[in-house]
Amino acid sequence: GKHLLTLMDLTTDEVMDILDLAIDLKEKQKKGESHHILKGKTLGMIFEKSSTRTRVSFEVGMYQLGGHALFLSRDDIQIGRGETVEDTAKVLSRYVDGIMIRAYSHESVEELAANSSVPVINGLTDDYHPCQALADLMTLYEEKGTLSGKKLAYVGDGNNVAHSLILACAKTGVNCSVATPKGYEPKAVIVEKAKEIAKETGATIEVTHHAQEAVANADAVYTDVWTSMGWEEEEAVRLEAFQPYQVNSELLSHADQEAIFLHCLPAKRGEEVTAEVIDGPQSFVFEEAENRLHVQKAIMVALMQE
Ligand code: CP
Repeated sequence: GKHLLTLMDLTTDEVMDILDLAIDLKEKQKKGESHHILKGKTLGMIFEKSSTRTRVSFEVGMYQLGGHALFLSRDDIQIGRGETVEDTAKVLSRYVDGIMIRAYSHESVEELAANSSVPVINGLTDDYHPCQALADLMTLYEEKGTLSGKKLAYVGDGNNVAHSLILACAKTGVNCSVATPKGYEPKAVIVEKAKEIAKETGATIEVTHHAQEAVANADAVYTDVWTSMGWEEEEAVRLEAFQPYQVNSELLSHADQEAIFLHCLPAKRGEEVTAEVIDGPQSFVFEEAENRLHVQKAIMVALMQE
């Protein structure tokens, strides 16, 4: 079967089809129209790390499509006690119609997909977060009516969320400017890959160390957390390095007047973004979180429908 491990697994047309289907499914859900497209199907969801949005949106999404989702915490299945990823993939493929996995290592998700006869969906690895990027694009698309030629600025840590956003922008013709502190840039191989993809869509991809320059005239300004649980030792160093990259009203004033603010959440108000911005009129972060549900339903339909 076909998998979604990174945005590189989808063509531009496939991305746009998923976004259009997501908007259609969102409308159906709002109108209360039943859309049991995956009736009788089961999604296995493996989580090595905690999650609010990914877990709940996949589980509710599968329910709304007429199917069923199984939550499999790493500690509750044998993979946590040393059963191989290969055997886990082969066994789960006999029971479920699709697997969603959140894992630390991207390689282990690739190994799962290589040994799975059902579609595998990446629900975040250390390198990528494709479902998030598709929900982000959906939000921009809904608010601006088009993607190609728009500008998105990503300010902060060049992490997994940034990687998938850069690739998603390249695929859909969105000009992408990334501003990070020195030493926190997105991986060069991923930026190069995005630039290669962008040649086909006409998008520009640039990485700078100047937040204001990246944000200039942007249609969307995006950030993500600087510090996470488990990074306590690094925290002080990071807070200092990232301080000039906070998305506050001053920085946002350099974007287009009608620019939207996006954040994958969870957020830390007062660190990467001020409360004034994330809770202000330009913020679409909760619409964006809702769109995880609709876009993932579209992804599951695209991959799992017979
Ligand atoms: N944005 C996101 O993936 O949220 P969770 O970690 O809560 O799933």
